[in-house]
Amino acid sequence: MALRTIRTMGDEILTKRCKEVKEMTPRLKELVDDMFETMYDAEGVGLAAPQVGILKRIMIVDIGEDPVVLVNPQIVDTDGEQTGNEGCLSVPGKVGKVTRPNYVKIVGFDRDMNPVEIEATELKARALCHEVEHLDGHLYVEKVEGRLMNADEVEAEEEGEAEEA
Ligand code: NI
Repeated sequence: MALRTIRTMGDEILTKRCKEVKEMTPRLKELVDDMFETMYDAEGVGLAAPQVGILKRIMIVDIGEDPVVLVNPQIVDTDGEQTGNEGCLSVPGKVGKVTRPNYVKIVGFDRDMNPVEIEATELKARALCHEVEHLDGHLYVEKVEGRLMNADEVEAEEEGEAEEA
């Protein structure tokens, strides 16, 4: 396993649509392992392949429970609404308020290309939606309500620390 470089806003690769994974290869499995190592090293709760420069529909999320790998994910159901602070490893030091579904159901494939269905609420649902958008070349800053803030000023306001994905 190895750490990969996290691309940051302004890098064109983050604006591109990722391609479907047709077949899980040893190389892509290594990518998944590297993505976990990179995400944990950066203390994030999610990471998408384009954030490490690979335009494939692969994403991971770990909010501290059970780590999730999703290949070719598709959101099939959403419900409710949550508004809260959000951050992104590709937009370091920034936080913004974003409204997301409070519940999400996603289908896709795991690291071995077995079909999986994941249901999540609250922070996990937020992180999953955030990562799916990365696969379509979108960053959360596009949907921030109000202005993009510096992470340290948000902490000063005691609104709580935002998780980065
Ligand atoms: Ni992100």
